[in-house]
Amino acid sequence: MFLYSDYEEAAEAVRAETAYRPKTLVVLGSGMSGLFDDGIEIPYCRIPHFPEATAPSHRGVMLVTERAYIMCGRFHYYEGYSPEEITFYIPVMKLLGVERVILTNAAGGINPSYSIGDIAVISDHIKLSGDSPLRGRNDSRMGERFPDMTEAYSCRLRELAYECAADNGIDLKTGVYFYMGGPQYETPAEIRAIAALGGDLAGMSTVYECIAARHCAMEVLGLSCVTNLAAGISDKPLSEAEVARTMSENSERLRLLLNSIIERTAEND
Ligand code: HPA
Repeated sequence: MFLYSDYEEAAEAVRAETAYRPKTLVVLGSGMSGLFDDGIEIPYCRIPHFPEATAPSHRGVMLVTERAYIMCGRFHYYEGYSPEEITFYIPVMKLLGVERVILTNAAGGINPSYSIGDIAVISDHIKLSGDSPLRGRNDSRMGERFPDMTEAYSCRLRELAYECAADNGIDLKTGVYFYMGGPQYETPAEIRAIAALGGDLAGMSTVYECIAARHCAMEVLGLSCVTNLAAGISDKPLSEAEVARTMSENSERLRLLLNSIIERTAEND
């Protein structure tokens, strides 16, 4: 279990590196680590208790600009981290004054209306695994014992994302994100089961962070890039190479959209 003082220690290390105090946090998912390069760069290894980002194409640095903290790379269950380790940074960001988090990821598309390269706003998520980053003694300085998840993904931020997408000529899809622990991709039978349960997107991240952020009373926006059609939807085998290729082909649209959302959310800060 992390202690409150661990979160404080990490927050203090970030404070010491920059005078910026933005209220928006952006977490860049697989293949997106190179999307931004401006800002004060803080390698994760300089922040106490931060795990090491070991997943391919997760850079492991935080960029700090006037408008946002941008985490280039995140932590996953399949790397061997516990849900609490995966989400360590969320309470740290709360202590730094962050009020909203934009969680991005690469996901497999299940909804038949999706095409490869689509960007989808996450409307809700499903996680059937029993664990939670909030398991263990509750720290009421962070949040409530039983956080409400009715509006896990903020309606306000979703509306704002659609507006920003329209401003940039981007057609934004919508979907329910279904969490799978990975690192293996799903079987076609699992994808059929996920579809029957109401999942539109399959992915290996985001959900623990959303839970931890809601516990900390942060607003959450989730954006998935459909990097591939999920297993069995097309007859092609899935590969990390395809995920990386789709990401790089769509990086300009994602950057445009994220920049526009960052600007809009920071307007009244
Ligand atoms: N499944 C799970 N995670 C993923 C996928 C997928 O098809 N594509 C990218 N991340």
